[in-house]
Amino acid sequence: MSDLGSVSRPVRVAIVGSGPSGFYAAEALLKSQTVVAVDMFDRLPTPFGLVRLGVAPDHPKIKSVTRVFEKIAAHERFAFLGNVHIGKDITVEELRRHYDSLLFTCGAETDRRLGIPGEDLPGSYTATEFVAWYNGHPDYRNRKFDLSHEVAVVIGQGNVAMDVTRILAKTVDELKSTDIAQHALDALAESKVKEIYLIGRRGPVQAAFTQPEIKEIGELADCDPLVSPADLVLNAASQIELENPDNQHSQKNFAILKDFAERTVRPRHRRYHVCFYKSPVEIRGAGKVESVVLEKNELSGEPFKQSAHGTGVKEEMACGLIFRSVGYRGIAIPGVPFDEKRGVFPNTNGRIGADGAAPGMYAAGWIKRGPSGVIGTNKPDSQATAETLLSDVPRLTPCEIPSTQAVLDLAKSRGVRVVSFVDWQKIDAAEIERGKAKGKPREKFVTKEEMLAVLD
Ligand SMILES: Cc1cc2nc3c(=O)[nH]c(=O)nc-3n(C[C@H](O)[C@H](O)[C@H](O)COP(=O)(O)OP(=O)(O)OC[C@H]3O[C@@H](n4cnc5c(N)ncnc54)[C@H](O)[C@@H]3O)c2cc1C
Ligand SMILES: NC(=O)c1ccc[n+]([C@@H]2O[C@H](COP(=O)([O-])OP(=O)(O)OC[C@H]3O[C@@H](n4cnc5c(N)ncnc54)[C@H](OP(=O)(O)O)[C@@H]3O)[C@@H](O)[C@H]2O)c1
Repeated sequence: MSDLGSVSRPVRVAIVGSGPSGFYAAEALLKSQTVVAVDMFDRLPTPFGLVRLGVAPDHPKIKSVTRVFEKIAAHERFAFLGNVHIGKDITVEELRRHYDSLLFTCGAETDRRLGIPGEDLPGSYTATEFVAWYNGHPDYRNRKFDLSHEVAVVIGQGNVAMDVTRILAKTVDELKSTDIAQHALDALAESKVKEIYLIGRRGPVQAAFTQPEIKEIGELADCDPLVSPADLVLNAASQIELENPDNQHSQKNFAILKDFAERTVRPRHRRYHVCFYKSPVEIRGAGKVESVVLEKNELSGEPFKQSAHGTGVKEEMACGLIFRSVGYRGIAIPGVPFDEKRGVFPNTNGRIGADGAAPGMYAAGWIKRGPSGVIGTNKPDSQATAETLLSDVPRLTPCEIPSTQAVLDLAKSRGVRVVSFVDWQKIDAAEIERGKAKGKPREKFVTKEEMLAVLD
C-alpha cells in the first residue's frame, strides 16, 4: 500500500498560478489531515496574480488580501517557484515526474473577442492590455495607448469596464499617490480624453457593474456622469426584475443611475456617459479608429433571462479610442485538455478531463469556471477542488522523482532564475522603498530584469 499523504511521504502538489485561487487551494490542502507539500509556480517573478496586476491602483484596500496569502506562504510545506512558465520553461509532462498531482490555477490571461469588422484597427484596444499596462505587468511595459483623442468608447459594463473608465476619467492628482505604474501615470497626464462612453448592450437593470463602482463615478474630482432619462424607461420584464425584492444589485444601481440622470451637469473638464441598449457592429477608420457603428437594441425574453437583439437602427459615433471590455479568457497549456469554446480547462468538480482523461490534474479559479467572480469567490471554489483532489489520493500514481531540488536543477539547466518567496519579499521591500519618495504605496518594477536585478 502507498504511504502517499504521510509525514514521510507527503502528497506532492504543483499549483500552477499564484493568484487568489492558487493561494486558497494551497491553504485548503495544507490544512488537511492528509499531509500535502505544495510547490506553487508562477510565470512571473511576482506572486498574487490579478491582485497585483488586475485590481485597480486606486482600490488599495482590496490588495490587503495579500497579507492572508503571505501567511499561507509561510507554511513549512509551501514553496514558491516564481519566474517559471509551465508549458514553456518546464513542460506539464516534466512536472508530472516530480509531483503526484497538478492543480492549475492559471487564471484567464487573454480576452474574449467581439467578432466585428475593424476590431483590430489601431486605437481599438482590449481592457486586458490596458489594465495590465497601468498596473505594471512586465509583458505590457512597452504597449502604447494613443490617448491624444477626445472621445473614448468602452464596450461592456462589467467592473473591469468601470476600472478602465475610472482610470481614464480621473485626474493625475487622484492617481499620483496610488501604485499605478509610472509610465501609465506619465501617459495619462498627457491624455486629451474628454468624453468617455460606457456602452452596454442591455439595460440599466441588467448592468453587470456593482453599486460601489458606479457610485464612485459620481464622486470624481473633475468628471461628471450623464445618463439619458430615455435609457431608464423599462420594459415589463425589466420592471419585474427591478421590483424583485432579492434583486438589490439592480435596485442600488438603478437608484444611482436615476440620480445621475437628474443631476445638473457642471462645466467640468471631462464627461462620463453611461449608455444602454447599444451594441457595436463595426469599427471604422482609415488605418486607425475613427468611429464606431452602434446598433440600437431591444430586450426580449423572460425576466432575468433577457437578451439583446438589434433593431436595425444604427448610429455612427466619431471616436479615436476604443476599449473592448467584454470578459477575459483562459489560455491553453500544452498537455492539458482545453475547452476552446469556453476558454477553460474542462473539469468535473475541479477534476480535469472527462472519465479520467487527465488523471491527477485539477483546476480551480478562473481557469476552472471562467472569468467571473471577485477574489473571495475563489475561496470556496478552490476548497471544493482541494476536496476532490484529497478524495482521489488513494488512487493517485506516486510520481517518479519526488524532489523539488530536481525541479530547481531542471529550471537552472534551462537558464531560468527561480524566484523564491524570500526573493519576492526582497523585491516587495525594494518596490515599497522606491514608492516612499513619491508618496506611493510602492513603485512597481515593470520589467523582469529590474526585478531580478534586486536579487543579484
Ligand atoms: C481588471 C480586474 C480587476 C479586478 N478587481 C477586483 C477587485 O477590485 N476586487 C475583487 O474582489 N476582485 C477583482 N477582480 C477579480 C479577481 O481578480 C479574480 O477573481 C481573481 O484574481 C481570479 O483568481 P485566479 O487565481 O483564478 O487567477 P489570477 O489572479 O489571474 O492568477 C493566475 C496566475 O497564474 C499565473 N499563470 C498563468 N499561466 C501560467 C503558466 N503557464 N505557468 C505559470 N503561471 C501561470 C499568472 O501569472 C497569475 O499570477 C478583478 C479582475 C480583473 C480582471
Ligand atoms: N471592484 C471589483 O470588485 C471588481 C473589479 C473588476 C472585476 N471584478 C470582477 O471580475 C469579473 C470579470 O469582470 P468583467 O468586467 O471582465 O466581466 P463581466 O462582469 O462578466 O462583464 C462583461 C460585460 O461585457 C458585456 N459583454 C459580453 N459580451 C459582449 C458583447 N459581445 N457585446 C457587448 N457587450 C458584451 C456583458 O454584457 P451582458 O451582461 O449583456 O452579458 C457585461 O456588461 C467579474 O466577476 C467582476 O465583478 C470585480
